[in-house]
Amino acid sequence: MATDVIAIANQKGGVGKTTTAVNLAACLAEHGRRVLLIDLDPQANATSGLGFRKEAGASLYRALIGQTEAESHVKTTTIKHLDLIPSEIDLAGCEIEIARMENYLHRLRQAIAGLVASDRYDFIILDCSPSLGILTMNVLTAAHSVIMPIQCEYYALEGLSVMKRIIDQLRTSGTNPVLEIDGILMTMYDSRTNLSQQVVAEVIAHYPDKVFETLIPRNIRLSEAPSHGLPIIHYASYSTGAAAYRQLAREFLRRRGGDEAEESAVGGLGTNFRHEQPAIGFLSKI
Ligand SMILES: Nc1ncnc2c1ncn2[C@@H]1O[C@H](COP(=O)(O)OP(=O)(O)OP(=O)(O)O)[C@@H](O)[C@H]1O
Ligand SMILES: [Mg+2]
Repeated sequence: MATDVIAIANQKGGVGKTTTAVNLAACLAEHGRRVLLIDLDPQANATSGLGFRKEAGASLYRALIGQTEAESHVKTTTIKHLDLIPSEIDLAGCEIEIARMENYLHRLRQAIAGLVASDRYDFIILDCSPSLGILTMNVLTAAHSVIMPIQCEYYALEGLSVMKRIIDQLRTSGTNPVLEIDGILMTMYDSRTNLSQQVVAEVIAHYPDKVFETLIPRNIRLSEAPSHGLPIIHYASYSTGAAAYRQLAREFLRRRGGDEAEESAVGGLGTNFRHEQPAIGFLSKI
């Protein structure tokens, strides 16, 4: 299987990008997939979420400006099959430097080309900052597909349409002809509120084929896990948050045509669910 490069992006802040990047990466690794998570947000939340300290010179910065090989920044984590390229604040300065360079949208793609070609990983997951700056545009140029987490709240759709337009532009302009939306992931879902249910229904109405059947519930364990430097499945394996991200990983693999045997073993969760009973039907099974 060729290496699949997936961006976790939404220019809106605090919607669950990093939580999704860390936990989807860990759940795919649990399936035996070889995963590299690259933290491309100067806030370095994915880095600390995996228990790493911010360390000068450790980020992809120097690889992005052509001074080092991306491979040299890879760290093995305590989690089997999961590696990390950390971030730190110097990545913020990178934006200005890259903007002045030739091929400024393709710096990340070029930097990770060796890793992608080496077939060392099944998945490379890219965590973005909440902006549409040069780094995020580099991520969208390097990725094969995008997962867009959105929080179940009003205005969710607004951010989504901006992202959708940018993805379409990158594709049609030929900057990244293969880029597609992997899926829209509804996060911080609260089944007790009408608002959550309405937002899910509205997003599904606008993007019927794109919304992941898996909904990520609001779960306190998910917000605690990063302070322990652990993905949810290693921090609170039996929490609803862990169940949701495990389910997301299965759905993600199923959409790629993998893990079919395993899927039938879990009873085909979600079949026909999407257009009939959004959210509630599935969450009651978690
Ligand atoms: N499903 C959830 N239930 C409860 N808390 C959550 C959930 N998902 C994320 N959080 C918490 O919400 C906050 C924002 O989440 P996260 O950092 O993943 O968002 P983000 O989109 O990466 O933010 P930023 O745009 O700043 O990078 C964090 O404190 C996180 O722990
Ligand atoms: Mg983040």
